[in-house]
Amino acid sequence: MEETKKFYVTTPIYYVTAQPHLGSLYSTLLADTITRWNKLQGNKTFFLTGTDEHGQKIAQAAQKAGKEPKEFIDSFIPDYKKAWKLYGIEYDCFGRTTSDSHIKGAQQLVQKIIDNGYVYRSEYSGMYCTPCETFVVDGAQLCSSCGRETAMMSEETYFFKLSSFADQLLDFYKKNPDFITPKERFNEVISFVKSELHDLSLSRTTVKWGVPFPGDIKHTIYVWVEALCIYITGVGYGDPHKAEQFNQWWPADVQVIGKDIIRFHAVYWPAMLMAAEMPLPKKLLVHGWIKVDKQKMSKSLGNVVDPLVLQKKYGAEPIRYYLLRQIPVNQDGDFSIADVEARIESDLAIDLGNLLNRMVALAHKYDLLTVKPIEIWSESSLELRDQSFTMIEDFSSHMDDYMFHLALARLWKFIHTTNAYFHGQEPWKLAKSNPTMFLEVISATCHSLRVIALLLWPVMPKKMEELLASIGLAFVLEEHTLENLQLNIWNKSFLLHKIPTLFDKPVQANKEESTVQQPVKIIKEEAYITIDDVVKVELLIGTIDACEEVVGSDKLVKMTVNLGERGLRIILAGIKKSHTPDELVGKRGVFIANLKPRKMAGHESHGMMLVAEDEDGKVQLMQAPAGVANGVRLR
Ligand code: MSP
Repeated sequence: MEETKKFYVTTPIYYVTAQPHLGSLYSTLLADTITRWNKLQGNKTFFLTGTDEHGQKIAQAAQKAGKEPKEFIDSFIPDYKKAWKLYGIEYDCFGRTTSDSHIKGAQQLVQKIIDNGYVYRSEYSGMYCTPCETFVVDGAQLCSSCGRETAMMSEETYFFKLSSFADQLLDFYKKNPDFITPKERFNEVISFVKSELHDLSLSRTTVKWGVPFPGDIKHTIYVWVEALCIYITGVGYGDPHKAEQFNQWWPADVQVIGKDIIRFHAVYWPAMLMAAEMPLPKKLLVHGWIKVDKQKMSKSLGNVVDPLVLQKKYGAEPIRYYLLRQIPVNQDGDFSIADVEARIESDLAIDLGNLLNRMVALAHKYDLLTVKPIEIWSESSLELRDQSFTMIEDFSSHMDDYMFHLALARLWKFIHTTNAYFHGQEPWKLAKSNPTMFLEVISATCHSLRVIALLLWPVMPKKMEELLASIGLAFVLEEHTLENLQLNIWNKSFLLHKIPTLFDKPVQANKEESTVQQPVKIIKEEAYITIDDVVKVELLIGTIDACEEVVGSDKLVKMTVNLGERGLRIILAGIKKSHTPDELVGKRGVFIANLKPRKMAGHESHGMMLVAEDEDGKVQLMQAPAGVANGVRLR
């Protein structure tokens, strides 16, 4: 048994010039899920998020709003806290860079770097915009914020000897090949350090809204340098009474960041820590951008998605699931309402919600409220149990790699397996014919749902607590660590309660209350097929002239199908659990006639029959209309 580990997770701290949007929610959600995943493993966790409140950008925004910077910032803090609360984000520290403890800690770190001899005073030259009182990037002739002409200017500044850390950084990267996830991002960082590492300006005389530079109050600390310090000041750095707490948590185990701020976190921040002789974070998890119609969300484009509107319309936890399932963490992802609704409907309402509802409703119908432990399991249930064990392993390994979309895809495969088991056993028949087996099927389904709910807890905590409650289990973290789950021997008893639907199917998106300021495309173009695709499929009416079971397969039947002028065909179908061969002979249906022949269980199938599953999980044939002859093509 592994001993309890500490795990410290951070998000970037957000600029408070506006309310949080879907991008800030995304970074924060990743960190919350990672924290909860660690809790599930029995680790002691600390989760820091917060706000970045100094610098010219904030001062200018406040001035525009006619407010003092602090008053301006304070007005946004409740929005952040409210959004995080609605989304179930449970942080341990909401760090604010205007807090006294942060200011002291940031000054202490800079002082330490000065004391260690890595700071010198010099001139910073560049193109300067006087009205904005700021140097513009890349020596531009026009100011990027006001558009006015810039002029060459020099400013006194304190420099950090960043260039002298190139070798040490490269050595650190070499020894810590897992420092950055995903790996592709690592190469960008390495080539940057190899090619152009200049000393870093640590202070500004022109920016008044900032933390005073230690020993020279004409200067403020460069806002990025000061902001990075939140990761240490948030756990006690700079406070002599909190030294123990600081040593307990630092270094961070994972720092979640967006790809736009990688250089600050992978180069400047480690170099600053090296200069202060402090341990370096263990990992940076770098995520992509959430885009709307292939563009990064931004206020000027008017495509910013408001998390509060989404929460109101779909509920917070379905959105948590959507973001983690739909958008691979290592790539940019396109936000789409159509995808949100499809995920909620198909994955949550149908695959998971219906499974729970049907099982509980069926058990209630036959007065099975207390599900006692099963002593001897039958083969099919043992197979389901073994599949749950393999799934737990695969799921955990994807979660440990921070590949949430893969973990969830794997978990959903197991939900499909559980659905197939439940419906395949036809418990609605067993309830009357074989009560012992009925009990077993209900119990096995409950055991599977328990595994599913616990693994999904980091993603949808409240919903999964509701799910567990409906099978009579309380969610108690200490008792349900991942390890317990892996040792799980399927000996639980359950108490079944009917609960309101776990996930509602979304009602069609209402254009008037769009979640983004621009009209949202309901279906992505690439999801359409054209008429050319449709006409490729030859759908014919046919009659099953003969039918037999396929020996050795528990699903397949082999049918001889009369397709009129197109002759007789051998077609296999996985419908044995719902129909006997005798029932099928003489039935008429719809068949795909031009499907490439395929071998199944040793027999070649020359087509496919169209079927659909009913509410009880029974497979029903598509009815051929009366008066339409065999071989007639559907159009
Ligand atoms: N204040 C700095 C971070 C300082 S950390 C010491 C900052 N703030 S920010 O508010 O602009 O961005 C914070 C985070 O939100 C970044 O990780 C950024 O990548 C993320 N996102 C902002 N818009 C985003 C999307 N559209 N999609 C995903 N995340 C994006 O940078």
